[in-house]
Amino acid sequence: MATAAREHWSSRTGFVLAAVGSAVGLGNMWRFSYLAAENGGAAFVVFYLLVTLCVGIPVLLAELVVGRGSQQSPIRALAHYGGPAWKPLGFAFVAAGFLILSYYGVIAGWTLRYAFEAVVGGFPADVANRFGEVATGWDAFGYHVLFMGITIGIVAGGVKGGIERTSLVMMPALFVIVVGLAIWAATLPGARPGYTYYLSTDFSKLFHWSVIKDAAGQAFFSLSLGMGAMLTFASYLSRDEHLPASTLVIAGADAAVAFVAGLVVFPLIFALGLQDRVSASTVGALFITLPQAFAEMGGVGRIVGLLFFVTLAVGALTSAISLLEVVVASAMDGLGWSRHRAAWLAGAAITLLGAPSAWNTEVLGVIDQVANNLFLLGGGLALSIFVGWVMHDPVAEAADGTEGIQWFPVWQWLLRVVVPIFLVLVLWFAIPETWTAVKGLFSQLSR
Ligand code: TRP
Repeated sequence: MATAAREHWSSRTGFVLAAVGSAVGLGNMWRFSYLAAENGGAAFVVFYLLVTLCVGIPVLLAELVVGRGSQQSPIRALAHYGGPAWKPLGFAFVAAGFLILSYYGVIAGWTLRYAFEAVVGGFPADVANRFGEVATGWDAFGYHVLFMGITIGIVAGGVKGGIERTSLVMMPALFVIVVGLAIWAATLPGARPGYTYYLSTDFSKLFHWSVIKDAAGQAFFSLSLGMGAMLTFASYLSRDEHLPASTLVIAGADAAVAFVAGLVVFPLIFALGLQDRVSASTVGALFITLPQAFAEMGGVGRIVGLLFFVTLAVGALTSAISLLEVVVASAMDGLGWSRHRAAWLAGAAITLLGAPSAWNTEVLGVIDQVANNLFLLGGGLALSIFVGWVMHDPVAEAADGTEGIQWFPVWQWLLRVVVPIFLVLVLWFAIPETWTAVKGLFSQLSR
């Protein structure tokens, strides 16, 4: 049996930091701030927190339960509890891993590039206009390859020796730097309107379906849910782990980093009077506006900018690891490949799959939409039904390692009723929108 030789985390902290590492990534800084900017600041933040609480946390616990209980990679884990009919869902998880990592690596490559430039020459004054150059073509692809190479190397190193070790070092460093940057941003003259924009709620926007949909997609993306990443990490846990406690720590840390990242980004942008550029928001907003801010600040900007982009790259790396691990664990369990072989072959395939995103940011944006709106939300829906209705006695499995928790019935009720209804509603709107985006892209490409 594959389970006999299965690797395990060496400590609870190791697992939690790896899971937090998966959750905290480009989503918390790049995606969160551009979506917040696009959706009226605090209205978005409020809804995002609500969705995290009522939908994200229940689904996260569900993934951990299936992973730890089965001690297997996603495809087998689902078959373990639900029979072979559930295998296709596992394949969809693996496909989502491929898809997301392919463009995630490209964006991570931009962060490496900016960090590198901050060291060698500083941020050039015309950095905003140069984004097109940085973001696409051989340059972008080259940095993507570099980033993927590092990711593959870590995953090939194994659960303990690669993933856990990296997270133990990098995550605490990331927390310290993000908090430090937020404190620094508070000292900037003219930062106040940034806070106002970020933290005052425009309730008229709150019940706009597109805000709700973006907040739901973001909550899933940010917590790495809906494609078996957390499930896979939990499959390396031993039975005495307190899953509900881990769930709360992971979700809390993830939301906290997103929130604090907003306390860096918004004051900084407003202090330099660059807010108009962000409202014309695209995937590139953060990568256009912030380097410009750093360029205008001269020497200080160079140091702060370096810290900022290194932090982004670190967050991206620990997230990319978890995306690749889903594919690698599945190939190891399903095809009997060695970890090395799985990491390098799958990693190379994903790197190549990133080429279209590296050459065209529109393609990147549409793949991001497809991955989030269809794969993650759809995967979350299927998973909540699976654990809520199909799996035998998930509460007993979740309770293992705890002393009986009062709110397990609430969890089950959320998973059975609230989460599926909410996700069906969101998908109802998200599917046609995604379809339109895909069609738009194709007609644009064929022109
Ligand atoms: N959560 C990460 C972020 O916020 C991205 C990520 C890592 C992810 N693994 C995932 C998203 C699995 C969805 C599914 O950047």
